[in-house]
Amino acid sequence: MDREVSQSEEMTERTFFMLKPDAVRRGLVEHILQRLDDASLRMVAKQQLVVNKAQSGALYTEHEGKPFYDSLLTYIHSGPVLVTVWEGSGAVALVRKLIGATNPTDAAPGTIRGDFGLAIDEDVVHGSDSVQSAEREIPIFFPGLD
Ligand code: TYD
Ligand code: MG
Repeated sequence: MDREVSQSEEMTERTFFMLKPDAVRRGLVEHILQRLDDASLRMVAKQQLVVNKAQSGALYTEHEGKPFYDSLLTYIHSGPVLVTVWEGSGAVALVRKLIGATNPTDAAPGTIRGDFGLAIDEDVVHGSDSVQSAEREIPIFFPGLD
């Protein structure tokens, strides 16, 4: 017999969310995690680490060859980051909404980049841009996550 699945359960997703080196350096971790917590998302994995070349290459594979690629990698390798996975209804789009526009100078007040971002090359956080991206990005940092 079919089990009844509620709509919110049906749309439960996971997304990959990274607090970049500037967020850690500037002591913004708790402030930023609180934003996701306030949005009723649930953190299911968390680790502080220095991103290695295999990880950054895999994460940013779509940007290889672009003019900002080398400086993006230098920035990502510049200090510890906090990598996290969050779960919830519509988690991918919700986290992107909380993050705001890619360029902090365009990001609305109240969004993470709007409130904390300084410039496009110091944009504080990364969040998966689709369910497919999340499914690709999560195992780069959490290969054993169920
Ligand atoms: P992108 O995937 O376009 O942004 P988002 O994180 O909003 O999905 O870009 C990836 C990262 O590359 C972004 O976090 C900041 C950096 N970047 C630059 O440094 N310069 C640029 O011109 C762009 C488009 C991105
Ligand atoms: Mg992107």
